[in-house]
Amino acid sequence: MHLLIPAAGMGKRMGSQRNKLFLPLQKQPILAWTLIAASNAIAIDWIGIIAQPYDWEDIQEILDSLNLSKPVQLIAGGDTRQGSVYNGLQALPANAVKVLIHDGARCLATPELLDRCARAFDTWQGFVAAIPVKDTIKIVDADGAIASTPDRSQLWAAQTPQGFDVQLLKECHNQGKQSGWEVTDDAALFEKCGLKVGIVEGEETNLKVTTPVDLALAEYILQQRNLESGNKPL
Ligand code: CTP
Ligand code: MG
Repeated sequence: MHLLIPAAGMGKRMGSQRNKLFLPLQKQPILAWTLIAASNAIAIDWIGIIAQPYDWEDIQEILDSLNLSKPVQLIAGGDTRQGSVYNGLQALPANAVKVLIHDGARCLATPELLDRCARAFDTWQGFVAAIPVKDTIKIVDADGAIASTPDRSQLWAAQTPQGFDVQLLKECHNQGKQSGWEVTDDAALFEKCGLKVGIVEGEETNLKVTTPVDLALAEYILQQRNLESGNKPL
């Protein structure tokens, strides 16, 4: 199965000087952890990394150090995540029928999660990993007052991996481009096109490293995983 890794962001919310995916976590760049998980997922046999060309040299250095046993291709990123995935879809080999998309910034996803998502194609043409939300979520008006409180039992926090039939997702991206839809994940494009998107059980530790607090949490989770203990690893 083909995997696209969007990795072309700036990491503005991290407040770092450059793409946050090069920040170290347990002595490896964030992106390296994502690649290690992808390389350990049995279902994945091709990896496309979508990144800004000015980052390619440093990504190549990571790839040289990891020496992955799967083919990896670098693909030029876009101005938005949506634009980056669009480029990724165009760069897929002609034999790609199904694609998993997994953010470079979700570096704690396990190979088991990636493989579970790959199996979800047996049931869905489009799906996202997700977990039930823990907080009560409020819809807030521009004046700062709460407009409504959606029923929490119906709310899920979307993660990646997300998986799609390649042809359908390409059509949704084209439609989105024509109609000027701006979305933060691919599932939203699928939904806007009236296509069904299923939920696959995600992982609580599959956080998106976005702010410095996430980085500290990720460091802690990896530390716990590395410790030999009888506890269920985080
Ligand atoms: N991404 C991308 N192309 C973009 C923007 C984002 O491929 N033009 C990728 C990021 O590299 C990341 C994923 O999409 O792996 C999720 O995006 P996010 O966490 O928002 O990362 P950044 O956009 O880098 O961070 P920020 O929004 O804080 O600038
Ligand atoms: Mg972003």
